[in-house]
Amino acid sequence: MSATLLVEDARKHFPSGDTVVRALDGVTVEARPGELIGIMGASGSGKSTMLLIAGLLEPPTDGAVYFRGECVSHPEADLDRLRDFRRRNIGFVFQKANLIPFLSALDNVALALQIDDVPVAQARDYAHELLVELGLGHRVDNRPARLSGGEQQRVAIARALANDPPLILADEPTAALDSVRSRQVMELFRTIADERQASVMVVTHDSRSIDLFDRVYEFSDGRILSENHSAAASTLVAR
Ligand SMILES: Nc1ncnc2c1ncn2[C@@H]1O[C@H](COP(=O)(O)OP(=O)(O)OP(=O)(O)O)[C@@H](O)[C@H]1O
Ligand SMILES: [Mg+2]
Repeated sequence: MSATLLVEDARKHFPSGDTVVRALDGVTVEARPGELIGIMGASGSGKSTMLLIAGLLEPPTDGAVYFRGECVSHPEADLDRLRDFRRRNIGFVFQKANLIPFLSALDNVALALQIDDVPVAQARDYAHELLVELGLGHRVDNRPARLSGGEQQRVAIARALANDPPLILADEPTAALDSVRSRQVMELFRTIADERQASVMVVTHDSRSIDLFDRVYEFSDGRILSENHSAAASTLVAR
């Protein structure tokens, strides 16, 4: 079976005055169904750039993105035309939950379905189900300001899951959370990978959750320094 996501030999170069910033310089990563993949590395090593390319939000300067074996991106791809594809297939979670402040938790999640033409009642029922699944059944009517950071992030994850995407991409989703809530969110991603057989790729600086990952790609200067399976990955942080 082909990988849900394969980013192959991706480069991203930004012109900067007389020089070029090589944000990515030949990076290959993949995620298969049921896998939770970690992306780690120093600040500026290209992690977010890779995620933007994997999520079809930025075209690579060179290289390609394959989704279930099919090439979906090349340097000339029209990313606007990929919007529907993204909405159906990719769930995004960022460092900040970015919820709509005047909508309840339930409506924030339901909106993602309504945009996809799901009737309101059905959207709200499924949003409710998802929030219960994520342990927020008692918070469905709260607006974001009345939720803790961890709760807001779980609403954002519910929203990312609403369309049942086979691929979830998360960029430092726990950076604003304390260690207990970070762990809970990372465990949630593990469960999502296991139970939904989704492919989940998480950029994180949090080495404490490394045991949950199937594989960790360590980035350095736009390249992959190492690719570790979880047992080996725990030695990576000890260095
Ligand atoms: N739009 C852009 N224009 C110019 N340079 C960029 C752009 N986006 C990223 N870069 C540069 O590319 C490199 C990689 O950036 P990137 O944001 O991918 O790093 P990162 O690994 O996510 O870092 P952090 O851990 O701090 O989030 C950095 O040197 C950054 O300054
Ligand atoms: Mg980043």
